[in-house]
Amino acid sequence: MKVNNIDGNNSSKNYRTIWMEGTCVFMIEQNLLPFEFKIYKSENYKQTCHAIKTMIVRGAGAIGAAAGFAMAQASTEASDNEYIRGIQIAKTEIEATRPTARNLFTATERVFNAALISKAKAVNEAQNIADEDAQNSLLIGEYGNELIKNGFRIETHCNAGWLAFVDYGTALSPIYLAHKQGKEVFIYVDETRPRNQGAKLTAWELQNENIPYAIIADNAGAHLMSKGKIDMIITGADRIAANGDVANKIGTLEKAIAAKYYNIPFYVAAPKSTFDLDCRTGDEIIIEERDEDEILYQIGLNENHKTEKILISAPNSKAINPAFDVTPADLITGIFTERGIIKPKKQEINKIFNIE
Ligand code: MRU
Repeated sequence: MKVNNIDGNNSSKNYRTIWMEGTCVFMIEQNLLPFEFKIYKSENYKQTCHAIKTMIVRGAGAIGAAAGFAMAQASTEASDNEYIRGIQIAKTEIEATRPTARNLFTATERVFNAALISKAKAVNEAQNIADEDAQNSLLIGEYGNELIKNGFRIETHCNAGWLAFVDYGTALSPIYLAHKQGKEVFIYVDETRPRNQGAKLTAWELQNENIPYAIIADNAGAHLMSKGKIDMIITGADRIAANGDVANKIGTLEKAIAAKYYNIPFYVAAPKSTFDLDCRTGDEIIIEERDEDEILYQIGLNENHKTEKILISAPNSKAINPAFDVTPADLITGIFTERGIIKPKKQEINKIFNIE
């Protein structure tokens, strides 16, 4: 999607979040946004693993595309005499980067199977995964947009926009389409501590598209709901269990509980590649624990326009940093998918997978 003001001039340019050319993978360096726009180049699968782990690339779909590309790089790098062993080791390594996002595992599995046939097939399959991700995000947007009325005030959590996918995004895709069609929308952007993907990335995306928004503290959502200021909530998902329980960025559960109390529709937007039918319920989803520094420190722009990491907690404190939580299906009004809007129920989920 559109990036404005590149290199300080007024032009805008369209980008995908991540792409592969030859054997190199290119991605927008998300740790630097919104302060600096830079492309990170990964020359081999280990560098792509590093990019996933350190969140240069992040968000369910973008992680999936990165994992697919990493698997393709591993296949091109593997020596002919130890080919199968080489790609198996790489698969294990890629899958250890971030445990919660289902798309990562969907992608490694698909590209690994293609790599068993040939290196060229592996690269082709990785490109297909990226293209499908973009197409599915667009379809999700079209379905979700049908429910957005003129004047809607929508709350979103974390970043499930185009930066979290290859293009368009999931939770933000319906909003982009609504805006394009001339509907007036206003977005409440949860800052999304500890890494502030809302305040940094979602706000940056909405700014690029000229969509009106305000960043709110994570703990302001229930208050705004109680005052009748929110018409709808849309979030993304990192993994959806077979019964419709949804793992998403930490803090999503609180929003869903408050939304239920105040009778506000709570929607999740996710492609089929985020569903994990082997996970019976949300209890089986592995929740990633991240470094405590993400809570104890913050990274921002100082008055000299340099990014700086500062301590914001009592020195020598310990912190606990679960990156995701699980929202039970009965708190979710519906799920926007590329196959339509479904209820978070086993039968409806099975239907989009053509399971009787
Ligand atoms: O830790 P992140 O930034 O990779 O978190 C994933 C997310 O972007 C969110 O949980 C999002 O809402 C899921 S949809 C990409």
